[in-house]
Amino acid sequence: MSAQPIVDIETLYRPTHDERARQQFVSTLRKHAIVDMRADLKRDWESRVEPALQARGEAPADWRGIERAMEAEPSFRFYSSVRYNVQEMTFLSVQEPVERALDGMIDVAREAAKRNPAGGSLRLTPNFEVPRYVSSLDIHLIPGSFHSEYTQDDVAQGAVVAFGSKVFGGQHPFRKKAGAVAESVGHWLHLKYPDFKPRRILDLGTCSGKNLFPYAEVFPGAELYGIDAGAPLLRFGHAQAEAAGLPVHFSQQNAESLDFPDGHFDLIVSSFFFHEIPLKSTHKILRECHRLLARGGMMVQMELPNEAAVSAYENFFWNWDTGNNAEPFYTTFRSQDPIALSTAAGFAAEQSFAHLIPDWVTFGEERYRRFVKGELPAPAHGSGGWFVFGARKT
Ligand SMILES: C[S@@+](CC[C@H](N)C(=O)[O-])C[C@H]1O[C@@H](n2cnc3c(N)ncnc32)[C@H](O)[C@@H]1O
Repeated sequence: MSAQPIVDIETLYRPTHDERARQQFVSTLRKHAIVDMRADLKRDWESRVEPALQARGEAPADWRGIERAMEAEPSFRFYSSVRYNVQEMTFLSVQEPVERALDGMIDVAREAAKRNPAGGSLRLTPNFEVPRYVSSLDIHLIPGSFHSEYTQDDVAQGAVVAFGSKVFGGQHPFRKKAGAVAESVGHWLHLKYPDFKPRRILDLGTCSGKNLFPYAEVFPGAELYGIDAGAPLLRFGHAQAEAAGLPVHFSQQNAESLDFPDGHFDLIVSSFFFHEIPLKSTHKILRECHRLLARGGMMVQMELPNEAAVSAYENFFWNWDTGNNAEPFYTTFRSQDPIALSTAAGFAAEQSFAHLIPDWVTFGEERYRRFVKGELPAPAHGSGGWFVFGARKT
């Protein structure tokens, strides 16, 4: 093992002054759409559109009725156009600086994969069959989705997703820190189950490991594993981990059929993953979770709140992404009962859960302890809280 450290791949990314200004504009515009325009839209529905429908005896029975009623409204059309365009601008705003830095980034990732100074690993599968639900569309408008490779040992998609995510969450008060989900789930588990000490942790659809790395701090000594379908994401994440001294084991695998032995993990997590998966595959992946967990092990999947957990209006709001953000499985996933998903995979109903947890950083440790004791409620999903579902294997 050489003493020479791996260069932090992020330091090669150097947007110009104008590119940074553009990225800041995009972050601010997105925040405006998702916070201010979201509130305006709700006000328009509650104060004008809904009362008019009620007066005509045409109050909608469900979220689809709200969607039909709002579709032609200027408030919705404006909100929707801004959200769509700002989503596109998010990834476009980082592509050029990534392209300029690409050769250097590839060299760093190659070096990391060759030397593994932190003791992690990168296992890619030649001729890997990327699931069609990843490869056939630009998922949430990322040009090239998560998997595209344009040159040998490409890391571009990893960089575009990583830096695009920073622009995406830049000014949003609850998304300032990378890995907020893992940090929150980790601390929640630690406080709620003080005796739970996972030895091996697996993150499904890890991307570049952003919501895997924080478990190293909460559960020191645990072995970290991340799987994803996209090779460029894994190369990028592996380079980040090695530079940070984190021994993380990345592998390119389809979560529907993993090559780890039965009972290999004590904790299986995911974040922002299942809403991108068709239902048939969701069932397969959850069955894999059951197979891969040791007895006493837990799975905790952070996801969007399911349809039954929120109001008709919130369902209209959340399901926007299905038809407007290249996330075709969103509505179907949200219409499932998460407890039923877990029991269908083999978990006991009484060991399954689906609820909100607070964001660790914004809620703060003292209030978190009170939440775990049942003294405080968690904030809504996306407004200081995260929705999680999962189960413990008995
Ligand atoms: C929205 S991203 C996940 C983000 C990441 N967990 C985070 O918190 O930043 C979804 C990821 O799942 C991966 N993915 C989708 N289907 C997959 C499958 N069947 N097997 C492995 N990875 C998959 C995609 O390549 C993508 O990186």
